[in-house]
Amino acid sequence: MNSTFPAGFLWGCATSAYQIEGAPLADGAGPSIWHRFVRTPGRVTGGDTGDVACGHYQRMREDVALMRELGLSAYRFSIAWGRVMPEGRGRINAAGLGFYERLVDELLRAGITPMATLYHWDLPAALDDRGGWLNPDIADWFADYASTVYRALDDRVPLWTTINEPWVVADGGYMHGVLAPGHRSAHEAAIAAHHLLRAHAAGVAAYRAVGKHQVGLVVNIEPKHLGPHATASDHHARELADAYMNRQYLDPALRGSYPEEMQEIFGDAWPDWPVHEVEALKVPIDFIGLNYYTRSVVRHDATVWPVPTAAVRQAGAIYTETAWELHPASLTETLLWLHQRYGGLPLYVTENGAAFYDPPAAIDGRIDDPLRVHYLRTHIGAVAEAIAQGADVRGYCAWSLLDNLEWAHGFSKRFGLVHVDFQTLVRTPKASARYYAGVIARHGASLDLPPAAPHTG
Ligand code: BGC
Repeated sequence: MNSTFPAGFLWGCATSAYQIEGAPLADGAGPSIWHRFVRTPGRVTGGDTGDVACGHYQRMREDVALMRELGLSAYRFSIAWGRVMPEGRGRINAAGLGFYERLVDELLRAGITPMATLYHWDLPAALDDRGGWLNPDIADWFADYASTVYRALDDRVPLWTTINEPWVVADGGYMHGVLAPGHRSAHEAAIAAHHLLRAHAAGVAAYRAVGKHQVGLVVNIEPKHLGPHATASDHHARELADAYMNRQYLDPALRGSYPEEMQEIFGDAWPDWPVHEVEALKVPIDFIGLNYYTRSVVRHDATVWPVPTAAVRQAGAIYTETAWELHPASLTETLLWLHQRYGGLPLYVTENGAAFYDPPAAIDGRIDDPLRVHYLRTHIGAVAEAIAQGADVRGYCAWSLLDNLEWAHGFSKRFGLVHVDFQTLVRTPKASARYYAGVIARHGASLDLPPAAPHTG
């Protein structure tokens, strides 16, 4: 498979703070909502916690060396708000900020472009005590925190993103309660969604006052498709599902209005936001970050709340361990859709990857993960196809560098290109890491697998 990527295209891996760092209270950090959530019985598979995770907080230099070995030209990481501001506002904890300064310096020494995310779900618990994403003041709290981080790091970090996947924060954290803080209320989800967008807008405004580079928003998009013989109610349900997951955030952030379907989805729970307040959610950004994992074929199902759709399993398709269909063509479709709908903004694939069962290491220590190699190869090919069709895609980050704490699934789902033994914390690059290193070395000119090693003896 031959493909062309523009000069300067970034090849990266992504991670997030709570999922890899461990030592969540080290050096004066304040606890996050995840620190509490994992301590609530029944919330996380196996009772797993981020107390140790990958031990990245202590092994940061080793991990950057690994990135260098793979040839990465970018690394997307998140900053834990509670390390920088233990109470979420006010007092700055220089030691916590210092960790990210050292990480950034180490990346630059290794020739790797840092891409920093300000919020990847680990809200300081002290802010949750004040209502968290339900408190309108959170936009100002976020902007203050963001300004502090920009001031410390913008001289060395050229790419910033405000909030990672606001849809997941509101849907998982406030609508269905499967993620921290674990609430289950459509009223709260609608309010949290709005304040996430207000915080994003305030975070971008703060960047314009302080920063000199680029800032964007990261969304997860999952195309909603229909199967054959779809009825009128299937078509309508598809529109609702698409509005809820794919347009609820980008439309206000980039076009200044919520999709009209919101009222029908949320019913009484949808607040009548004043028009000027919704228009204020629209602020110019420099790029969109896309987290793409899968598509979904949907049909109408009145028993499902709040969007009356059920997913239809596709015969013959490959599914990951998180039951996501492998569908690279939908990544091309998504990139082109973003390009057309949101004014040709530059795009970065900020996450893309898959959890598959990894066999135990062979005697020679190798870990073969052919399905993950296949996933990467076909999805990087899908990015090349979107570029060929005109989308301005500037980089690709595989999720994830390391096996890590997969939120409510604990350590039971492995997304890493590098295997982590959670007892010893030893890192072992899987075949997918080697494959990705080869793609990077060729700047994506060929996505073919290396020829199998000849048998000897
Ligand atoms: C998140 C990651 C997560 C990944 C796989 C994304 O929604 O940003 O934190 O681990 O998907 O589920």
